[in-house]
Amino acid sequence: MESIKEEIEKLKKEKRAIILAHYYVPGEVQEIADYIGDSYFLSKKARETEAEMILFAGVSFMGESAKILNPERTVLLPDAQADCPMAHMASREKIREMRGKYEDLAVVCYINSTAELKTMSDVCVTSSNAVDIVKKLPNKNIFFIPDGNLGAYVAAQVPEKNIIVNEGYCPVHREIQEEDVKNARKEHPKASVLVHPECVSEVVRTADFVGSTSEIIQYACQSEEKEFLIGTEEGVLWDLEKKCPEKAFYPVKPGQCCLDMKKVTLEKVRNALKEEKYQVSLEPETMEKARRPLDKMLELGK
Ligand code: 13P
Ligand code: SF4
Repeated sequence: MESIKEEIEKLKKEKRAIILAHYYVPGEVQEIADYIGDSYFLSKKARETEAEMILFAGVSFMGESAKILNPERTVLLPDAQADCPMAHMASREKIREMRGKYEDLAVVCYINSTAELKTMSDVCVTSSNAVDIVKKLPNKNIFFIPDGNLGAYVAAQVPEKNIIVNEGYCPVHREIQEEDVKNARKEHPKASVLVHPECVSEVVRTADFVGSTSEIIQYACQSEEKEFLIGTEEGVLWDLEKKCPEKAFYPVKPGQCCLDMKKVTLEKVRNALKEEKYQVSLEPETMEKARRPLDKMLELGK
């Protein structure tokens, strides 16, 4: 009998599909992907691909962004309920209020946001390019949505701008507290602490390195050091252990797990390709308006 992985390989060829996977999905799903990466890398791959079908092993804002960037392609999400809670944590009313308050305001929208929020934004960013892009904007006043923690991290790096942060947060990264970092350092005194900028600012301030999922992986692989404490979702450990088997990786806090990302299983990937579900579908007008900030990110991004 064919294994699920073989079935997926066969379906991929048959449907001329590619699989894009985020580092937070289960390791066995990362294993069958054509590209694994952080949000910025995957959005570039989604725009470039000539494949007829894109299966996005990730949460809904990722599938939506792929569809917006490449509307001619069929974009599939293996689980229609896999959603990022933070993507909804900003309001139209607040954006309008801020636009009324500051004449030169730029609304900077983390890619972890709904398509609707993107339609109201000037530029999208990801955790790997947010500082760079905000620095390049001509505007002095910035409203950063929806993530207050990434917003605060950007504000600390770009003090010359007036960055107003929204109050959204990632529930997974918010769980990691300064006390957890202290305890983890006591347990592993030789380890460097590498964290994601979605962590709260007390954690970000005490870390040895702050970066996106890909940047954390790159840092750990290139470093001379041998032990690392990882302050982001545990899916990153799967890739780290594969790439650097001679090094030791520990989570800053056990159970750093995004349950929405973990909804993406091999079975659901197989079923999605077989039955061509769940197709991402957005209104043409929404796609057109949401494409502008995404295109601007790709133009200004590194
Ligand atoms: P990056 O992969 O860009 O670091 O994003 C992390 C994340 O939370 C995705 O949901
Ligand atoms: Fe959203 Fe956090 Fe899960 Fe990323 S890890 S998808 S930001 S809930």
